[in-house]
Amino acid sequence: MRMVDLIEKKRDGSALTNEEIRFFINEYTKGEIPDYQVSALLMAIYFQDMNDQERADLTLAMVESGDQIHLTEIEGIKVDKHSTGGVGDTTTLVLGPLVAACGVPVAKMSGRGLGHTGGTIDKLEAIEGFHVELTTEQFTKQVNEFKLAVIGQSGNLTPADKKLYALRDVTGTVNSIPLIASSIMSKKIAAGADAIVLDVKTGEGAFMKTVEDSRALAKAMVQIGNNVGRQTMAIISDMSQPLGFAIGNALEVKEAIDTLRGKGPADLTELCLVLGSQMVVVGGKAKNLEEARKMLLEVIENGKALEVFKDFIQAQGGNPAVVDQPELLPQAAFTFEVPSKESGFVSFIEADEVGTAAMLLGAGRATKESEIDLAVGIVLHKKVGDSVEAGESLATIHANTENIQQVLEILYKHIEFSAEPVTPPNLIEEIITE
Ligand code: URA
Ligand code: CA
Repeated sequence: MRMVDLIEKKRDGSALTNEEIRFFINEYTKGEIPDYQVSALLMAIYFQDMNDQERADLTLAMVESGDQIHLTEIEGIKVDKHSTGGVGDTTTLVLGPLVAACGVPVAKMSGRGLGHTGGTIDKLEAIEGFHVELTTEQFTKQVNEFKLAVIGQSGNLTPADKKLYALRDVTGTVNSIPLIASSIMSKKIAAGADAIVLDVKTGEGAFMKTVEDSRALAKAMVQIGNNVGRQTMAIISDMSQPLGFAIGNALEVKEAIDTLRGKGPADLTELCLVLGSQMVVVGGKAKNLEEARKMLLEVIENGKALEVFKDFIQAQGGNPAVVDQPELLPQAAFTFEVPSKESGFVSFIEADEVGTAAMLLGAGRATKESEIDLAVGIVLHKKVGDSVEAGESLATIHANTENIQQVLEILYKHIEFSAEPVTPPNLIEEIITE
């Protein structure tokens, strides 16, 4: 097989066979095909797209390019949730204990990552003593016992995706639905998910800025999952403004605890109920979404979700007292209010800009080497649609410096007002099951 023939075939609009896709993925992973030929093929895919069969074949070829985690020792259907990423997205911290309390095993492999705040592991490490260095045996045992465990990324998962993603990044081929969808799905499948629930974000703070693009990505991923035998569902949710109130690591742990107690922000709570219902259904613990939602509300109400969270923290070396005393979490040295300069209705809170402000405070990593300050961040007091009086605080800044001029400027510039009442954005744009 010659790579140049594959490039020409795709360039001219034909579909690649499974053998051809495997050839290119395997040989490229081994370093046998030069970047310039793969770049040309990626560009051809970018313009010519891939059909459903090609997308499924590409995903599985990437899954098989490296190690795969088999969670066969864990009882039940392992459901993984994936979010395409947003600002102040505290859902993973809430959903783990919430669906685990309904009997769905959550065996989560997670990362730190770059972004406005840390990843799930960074957030959990705001809890004193908490660690994710578990052996496979400990991980399995803990999931079987408490239904919830989080482990750091290990092993050589989807090396083909790592190489391709880096190459796409410098060849203008990141933004291609078949390439994004296969990239995300290959990682979830290699990490051992039997079923996958996707939260595809849309809006200013998201990878996909329009509902149309988000829908195309969601459908592509659901199709791949179902074509390779993993039940997959997706929702499209708003990321034009940050999710919930808190943006920051320890601040989001506290927000997650509030939410598990039934006292969280309305949008975060609703999103967790919608995603959680899907997880409980694909996890086989409820017949339909309504029944699942009732179960989730019940474990919030009766305190079972919080109990699971405590057991989970304790099992991974953390101090479970933070659940009842969140003041034990890292606290910033200073807090500053952001008084509104106007009266009216909040019309826009630009998610990515608020995320950048949190990152400037030290809540996120700009490069892999950056240190995160777990205590700092921003807590909003207003969301789009809320009324506000001049002088009322829009947000509290939690900082370990008194030099917050730039952060204030960003917030004032990117929180907008209207004299007329404003309808908040739709939190859930769509639910996609096939
Ligand atoms: N996230 C991924 O993991 N892969 C992509 O291609 C894009 C976003
Ligand atoms: Ca949040």
